[in-house]
Amino acid sequence: MPSPTDTPPIISLRNVKKAFGPKVIYDDCSLDIYAGETITIIGGSGTGKSVTLKMLIGLLQADAGSIQVYGTEVRGLPEPGLLPIRRRVAMLFQGAALFDSLTVAQNIKYPLREHHWGDEKRLDERVEEVLEMVGLPGSQKLKPSELSGGMRKRVGLARAIAVEPDVILYDEPTTGLDPINVRRINGLILSLQEKLKVTSIVVTHDMDACFTFTDRIALLYERRFAFVGTQAEARASDNHYLQEFIAGGRGTLDKDVT
Ligand SMILES: Nc1ncnc2c1ncn2[C@@H]1O[C@H](COP(=O)(O)OP(=O)(O)OP(=O)(O)O)[C@@H](O)[C@H]1O
Ligand SMILES: [Mg+2]
Repeated sequence: MPSPTDTPPIISLRNVKKAFGPKVIYDDCSLDIYAGETITIIGGSGTGKSVTLKMLIGLLQADAGSIQVYGTEVRGLPEPGLLPIRRRVAMLFQGAALFDSLTVAQNIKYPLREHHWGDEKRLDERVEEVLEMVGLPGSQKLKPSELSGGMRKRVGLARAIAVEPDVILYDEPTTGLDPINVRRINGLILSLQEKLKVTSIVVTHDMDACFTFTDRIALLYERRFAFVGTQAEARASDNHYLQEFIAGGRGTLDKDVT
């Protein structure tokens, strides 16, 4: 992983504030993301993990502060300016967020068309490629209603990786899946990270997986990132809340060190 001091960050949140009505989600939130790293965002339910990811691609607007993505200020950026950002930064949504009326193939083609990927033949080829990658070959014609939860997540992932993004935002990619699908998705995250050098921002409660693939951990607590650091720094931290999260993955941790 590149050291934070080697290169400037590709994504930078500075003093971000966000509230929904009277409910303050962030009062002073800062975080830097570096090219090629995998950073895991952890935190209790409702602390604003999904909100962070959505703010990075302009689906939600921060109230104050700055969000720079590849040198562009995303806060307040009108829709046309967001398109090139969403080409480089793709998101796997928490509930997969597929269009129910469209087939699997049409869902995956949606962002490809938006980003002018190529003619219909090229789109078909790309759909075939990414469905192969997520272990769902031949499922082009199915509708989301015909898919299991695990399959929907994998189609969501296929749609996210289809445009060959530089950064993938994974919002709870394995929550609610059976162990085989958990392994499959975590394996995909690892291989995208290793083979394609994709920068990954992963929101997960799966601490076992987190300690398998993450370079750094960021803990959302009390309306800000209360801890950001490497696995070693996380283990050495005296933040009690962080230690409680880490304890959730103790099984793998212990196995790793013996
Ligand atoms: N569009 C919205 N309008 C109003 N409130 C919202 C909106 N999106 C999120 N919130 C609120 O912001 C808070 C943080 O939401 P968020 O979805 O980011 O939590 P989270 O950390 O991802 O939780 P979980 O682990 O349950 O997914 C929640 O209280 C949620 O109700
Ligand atoms: Mg969430």
